[in-house]
Amino acid sequence: MGRYDEVYRRSLEDRDAFWAEAAEEIDWIKRWDKVLDDSNAPLYRWFAGGVLNTCYNALDRHVAAGRGDQPALIYDSPITGRLKSFTYAELTEKTARFAGVLAGLGVAKGDRVILYMPMIPQAVVAMLACARIGAVHSVVFGGFAPHELATRIDDCTPKAIVSASCGIEPGRVIAYKPMLDAAIAQASHKPDACVILQRPEQEAELTPGRDHDWKAAMDSAKPAECVPVAATDPLYILYTSGTTGQPKGIVRDNGGHAVALKWTMKNFYDIEPGEVYWAASDVGWVVGHSYIVYAPLLHGCTTVVFEGKPVGTPDAGVFWRVISQHKVRALFTAPTAFRAIKRDDPDGKLIGQYDLSCLRTLFLAGERSDPDTIQWAERHLKVPVIDHWWQTETGWAIAGNPMGIEQFPVKYGSPTKAVPGWDVQVLGPDGHPVAPGDMGTLACKLPLPPGSLATLWNAEQRYVDAYLTEFPGYYMTGDAGFIDADGYVSVMTRVDDVINVAGHRLSTGGIEEVLCNHEDVAEAAVIGAADTLKGQLPVGFVVLKAGVAKPEAEIVAELVRLVRAQIGPVAAFKTAVVVDRVPKTRSGKILRGTMKKIADSEEYRMPATIDDPAILDEIGEALRGVGYAKG
Ligand code: COA
Ligand code: AMP
Repeated sequence: MGRYDEVYRRSLEDRDAFWAEAAEEIDWIKRWDKVLDDSNAPLYRWFAGGVLNTCYNALDRHVAAGRGDQPALIYDSPITGRLKSFTYAELTEKTARFAGVLAGLGVAKGDRVILYMPMIPQAVVAMLACARIGAVHSVVFGGFAPHELATRIDDCTPKAIVSASCGIEPGRVIAYKPMLDAAIAQASHKPDACVILQRPEQEAELTPGRDHDWKAAMDSAKPAECVPVAATDPLYILYTSGTTGQPKGIVRDNGGHAVALKWTMKNFYDIEPGEVYWAASDVGWVVGHSYIVYAPLLHGCTTVVFEGKPVGTPDAGVFWRVISQHKVRALFTAPTAFRAIKRDDPDGKLIGQYDLSCLRTLFLAGERSDPDTIQWAERHLKVPVIDHWWQTETGWAIAGNPMGIEQFPVKYGSPTKAVPGWDVQVLGPDGHPVAPGDMGTLACKLPLPPGSLATLWNAEQRYVDAYLTEFPGYYMTGDAGFIDADGYVSVMTRVDDVINVAGHRLSTGGIEEVLCNHEDVAEAAVIGAADTLKGQLPVGFVVLKAGVAKPEAEIVAELVRLVRAQIGPVAAFKTAVVVDRVPKTRSGKILRGTMKKIADSEEYRMPATIDDPAILDEIGEALRGVGYAKG
């Protein structure tokens, strides 16, 4: 039996001992009473009775252990030209001080704090400061519009919001503060206080009585100590797209999260404490939470906060510059970033300009890795390229090549095998596992390992309904795929209305809701059409109300503006077509899957239940008009 087989088997068959051993890597204030509390199944709690502090484990303990002078965080911002490094001692001091700022504003254990921040070190400081005082952070990605922020404010009712005066995108400064003000005005819940970091690129006007200047507050704050929290207390809420416009608030606990993430650093990523680990993502996404902030710091690594893009800041060589300059051991990013680099520098000429001998591995996740992108990266970087599959809900990888345990030969298109802790199965519609190689819904047998979602914020029943009900005893991932006879998992598509645009997860239902709000629109459908750069791009179909006289092009332009204003630029919604009707089943379900196949020029079977097959020709015609369905 290989090492993986042994570890994998133990993780499932001797689960409690396996995770109890992993938990020894975390400093506990009080050890747990039970490794897994299954008394309320299918809702499980890890390390029940345990008490710890996540911030202490990520910062203070490393200082105590002699890592105080090691860089904890390197801020590399090609977009502003700034470069700054913070040692563990410095990051601890800043975090303790900002924890003091929050405490001074009345934020206490269990209170929620929303962070709406660009990719700057203060975002990490604010997250860890919340963890330090037991407050629950909820980071909202900067590319979301005020309406999305307002939805999250109303859902998690934060005591305070932390933001910056602006974010910086190529060629433009994005004023965050007016968006924050608009969101607070829209929301029914009002935070008691906001802390605003003034950035020199564009300062913001502060609202007297509510807003506090980050720097002034830090200067006068008293550092706060770590507060003991239960292993089962929430560390953060991270909203992600579901099938409707109402996002799901994924709740992560403190104990299981710390144990699982620490375990992954050696066992999955094969990284040692003291090494430099770079996840080129954003703190607004789960990859940023887990692998820019928590895992590398829990492990005593140096993490990189990168404020830039893979191309254009200044060129497609910036990733290589950062790797060689900071001696990065492992890079983690989304395939779309590599597609962007490959498009600008197809022969990888810029790679040759840098010494990349420090780089051991490239990890890709967030969307399906197309074989072409993996092979390009392998050819030019000459290091293993590891695709791994996971979700906001799971918090860490479900399937992938566990580099610290055993490295499997790659089969392109598959992230390889289930990661220890995850009992992945492919289920048929009857809820039974299908034969190897057959397609079905990807599901994970309960209980999920530590670090996976505990519940949905304020919506336990929605958690049960959305994930645990269709296949009793399993967590339904929302992805479909197959597992071959060698145990290799392939993730092919979503089974719901979630799409993936440049590694960002979006709800077609959410975009449809916005389109339907337009006064001239009677009905809308949105699909994710294949895109060579971003993986998928949303394409909208709208049916207009009878008697609308406005030119279609004008309406389409308004719709594009509306989605940008309501959801945000991150939706990359640029294409909509006006059609007479959208294809539906006789029971009224919109045939998005068939429309997507037409857009992508794929073969499709005429759905037996379609109400009127002729509509599909009209859809094809409309799609050809906007550059799709050509093949
Ligand atoms: N604040 C405000 N606006 C933002 C933003 C932020 N934090 N992040 C992105 N946007 C805007 C962009 O400026 C862009 O606006 P535009 O329509 O005016 O051009 C829009 O949102 C879409 O952004 P993005 O998805 O970044 O696309 P892009 O065309 O600017 O760049 C890539 C394309 C491939 C370079 C980019 O998508 C990328 O770096 N992807 C990596 C994805 C990633 O890290 N995913 C995380 C999961 S691991
Ligand atoms: P998010 O929650 O934003 O991380 O998105 C999770 C979804 O992205 C998954 O459910 C998949 O649909 C997709 N995804 C993430 N990683 C991979 C991967 N390596 N291969 C295929 N799909 C992936």
